[in-house]
Amino acid sequence: MAGLAVNVDHIATLRQARGTDYPDPVAAAVLAELAGADGIVAHLRGDRRHIQDRDVKLLRQIVKTRLILEMAATKEMLHIASEVLPDLVTLVPETREEITTEGGLDIIAHERTVKSAITELHAAGIAVSLFIDADTSQVKKAAHIGADMIEIHTGAFCDAKGGEEKDRAFAEIIEAAKTAAGLNLKVNAGHGLNYDSIKKFKGLKEIDEFSIGHSIVSRAALVGMERAVREMAELIRGL
Ligand code: PXP
Repeated sequence: MAGLAVNVDHIATLRQARGTDYPDPVAAAVLAELAGADGIVAHLRGDRRHIQDRDVKLLRQIVKTRLILEMAATKEMLHIASEVLPDLVTLVPETREEITTEGGLDIIAHERTVKSAITELHAAGIAVSLFIDADTSQVKKAAHIGADMIEIHTGAFCDAKGGEEKDRAFAEIIEAAKTAAGLNLKVNAGHGLNYDSIKKFKGLKEIDEFSIGHSIVSRAALVGMERAVREMAELIRGL
């Protein structure tokens, strides 16, 4: 049965929009866990546009399931991770102009940097996942450089308007997931998933956990965090 990791970045986005001290992503994490989340995800960006250093420190103290820290493989973030000690670090690419993480990390092009980040995080006792596109050559490279896990970028599938493009994007996810499982990598998936697109994953047993933020926080604004998380967790458990 797959799990659900809830990303609380966009609770922080609402807070930062007004420079207030609410809503608090830490409170959202507590509610998400009470509603059945298997993990809490926060992305500490170099530009601090949503999650702040204070959030990560407090999340480390209150998260009872697993804290997953998304971050770029920079010196600054590696230092923070070694102090906070999340249960898992997911390495993601980051550019200042993007609205959200746009593509997977190209670990073939950035092999040296990523490998050295994995070594440093492992030395601190932190497991490492690599957020990559659904591309078997990236999956094989992830295994080769010692990642514990991959997270398959589902954005191309979620953004495809339909028809052949969507089918092709989903076929690539299946191939990447099966390749990773064959290489003993754990497989997570995420980006752009919502209460409808998640249903497509029925029967794809290679995926261990889905990482979902925007659609849950959007729904939470209307129906409340607990109900929004519970509904998504039930959909995932039924896959
Ligand atoms: N996984 C990764 C690596 C991400 O960067 C994000 C977005 O922060 C997500 C999952 C969640 O994406 P969404 O907010 O679209 O559900």
